[in-house]
Amino acid sequence: MAFFNVQIVKKYINGKFIKYKSRMVTNGMKTISLLNLKGGVAKSFTSLNMAYELWRRGNRVLLWDNDKQGNLSKAFGRYEAEQTAPTARILSGDWQNPVELIQATDYEGIDIITANLSLFGAAWNLVREGETDMTERYRRFLKAGINNQTGDSICESYDYCIIDNPPDIGINVVNALVVTDEVIVPVKIDENALEGLDIVAEQIEDAKTLNPSLTLKGVLITIYQNTDGEAAGLEWLRQEWDSAESKHYRQYKVLGRIRYSAKVAENSFVKKPIYEYSPCCGAAQDYKHFVTSYTGIGR
Ligand SMILES: Nc1ncnc2c1ncn2[C@@H]1O[C@H](COP(=O)(O)OP(=O)(O)O)[C@@H](O)[C@H]1O
Ligand SMILES: [Mg+2]
Repeated sequence: MAFFNVQIVKKYINGKFIKYKSRMVTNGMKTISLLNLKGGVAKSFTSLNMAYELWRRGNRVLLWDNDKQGNLSKAFGRYEAEQTAPTARILSGDWQNPVELIQATDYEGIDIITANLSLFGAAWNLVREGETDMTERYRRFLKAGINNQTGDSICESYDYCIIDNPPDIGINVVNALVVTDEVIVPVKIDENALEGLDIVAEQIEDAKTLNPSLTLKGVLITIYQNTDGEAAGLEWLRQEWDSAESKHYRQYKVLGRIRYSAKVAENSFVKKPIYEYSPCCGAAQDYKHFVTSYTGIGR
């Protein structure tokens, strides 16, 4: 059962103090994975903006960069190329105290576990060694105590964990699925949009043997251009899903639609949530509405 604490929160955002009503979910951490076998469909951008919108509603968010490219870590200015990244250390089991692996971001209440290319070697070694617990590394980490005084686990310290995955399903992604409650699949509409979605659904089915509570929540249409062509493309996708013989396609529900925004394209060097540099643009408004419909809590 979910409990909601209503409180007035004041935060310093975008150069000014903003007051808003926050309803904090206090029934434990929900873990969401952004997953698609394709790159360039806005997995990282959605992770960043969902985290921000959840945080704006008063939630504590743990971001987990599970992609060796480290784009999410870069977006929060926490990317380090040289050291073995925390995600790689978690996969290797090479850690003592979980606190050392979680970094604060510039947003108080959003923390991050970063990644870099060292994740590639860690995944490769794990598979080569074939350890029996190789799918349990992330679970072990999340269950570990975090606060020496209260003994709270990581799961009790955050309301949401958002995992930004790479465009493949390697051992690090299997580890992510083992700790995930809900998978959201960002999809960009083009003639190859369905490619790989069958495999994603199949992998999720397989991973349910390791994590029975894993759910494929649906697709989020991203980078959507409101042209006749893309509207027709979306309609075509819906029909393909409805008429497909594969039982996997039937699990895909459209959760929402994020418009293409020239502001995002123009400012790809700006490492900020879209709402902070262009609050009125379509993408900023759509992420806000998507998170409201996803959580049932507006701001
Ligand atoms: N709504 C949008 N409008 C315009 N460009 C977008 C939008 N969402 C994402 N992008 C851009 O698309 C590119 C791919 O996004 P990214 O999140 O890196 O994809 P992925 O993580 O799936 O590889 C990035 O350059 C990003 O800035
Ligand atoms: Mg990415």
